[in-house]
Amino acid sequence: MQEEFDTVLLSHDEERGVATVTLNRPDALNAMNAQIREDVVSAFGALEELDEGADGVAVRVAVIEGAGDRAFSAGADITEFGGGEPRVGPMSSVQDTIRGFGAPVVAKIDGYCLGGGLELAFGCDFRLASESSRLGLPESNLGILPGAGGAQYIARIAGPGVAKEVAMLGEHLPAERAGDLGLVHRVFDDEAFDDEVAAFVEELAGQPPLSMRAIKDSVDHGQGVPLREAIAYDRRVFPTLVETEDHAEGARAFAEDDYEPTFEGR
Ligand code: COA
Repeated sequence: MQEEFDTVLLSHDEERGVATVTLNRPDALNAMNAQIREDVVSAFGALEELDEGADGVAVRVAVIEGAGDRAFSAGADITEFGGGEPRVGPMSSVQDTIRGFGAPVVAKIDGYCLGGGLELAFGCDFRLASESSRLGLPESNLGILPGAGGAQYIARIAGPGVAKEVAMLGEHLPAERAGDLGLVHRVFDDEAFDDEVAAFVEELAGQPPLSMRAIKDSVDHGQGVPLREAIAYDRRVFPTLVETEDHAEGARAFAEDDYEPTFEGR
């Protein structure tokens, strides 16, 4: 399946269950204007519809990438600023869409990933970056602050000191430093980047999809509640997975040496 929105390209590989959402304003380094925010939400809506009509799940993993060879996204579209407030609310709603999407979402970061672009990536479950990528929150250079939680995500991942450093100085971090701080999951050589991301996505897509969805939901839910309540939530979800065909398939593969399991999301 391929679908073209004004500023976003959407494709879905039915066989692998992998969807790709491409931010497609390469001339503006994929800066997030109102249209692209709307199109990202529409693209994920289209993917949800695919899932609703599927036997099992249609989307096992979604990947977000930037078109062109310079940026994932250089952040909120600065030309929309001025004459009032920058539109930070809609950026948060793009994150809500991605966080609320059932399947894991991977940010494929190759190039600049700044401001709202980094916040978009923080809304994803995984961040994979090429070595030459540069990440940062340059909003302070414009006299504002990251309006969609950029500094809060960093504070939770790497501590408040790092959050203040990154957001106050507004510098571009090399991917390797972002990796050391835990802000991105993996950093790959530029030459190997596409292949390494494809391998990571393939591995994730081969895992039992309902288990992936339950883990995403459970870990996200657990961030806002006491540990005891988070564990109680998992305990309630557990029996629903025990009843799935995928659990039986995994158990069979464990018991039989030469059996390769295939998980259908049922
Ligand atoms: N909003 C709107 N347009 C943007 C943009 C943004 N956030 N970031 C880049 N662009 C546009 C530039 O205006 C330029 O357009 P033009 O060719 O029509 O002049 C084009 O993308 C290429 O960017 P340019 O600045 O010429 O490239 P560069 O290599 O000199 O610098 C960056 C690259 C990323 C360092 C620089 O573009 C930048 O600092 N962008 C803003 C990042 C930012 O502050 N984001 C947070 C906003 S709150």
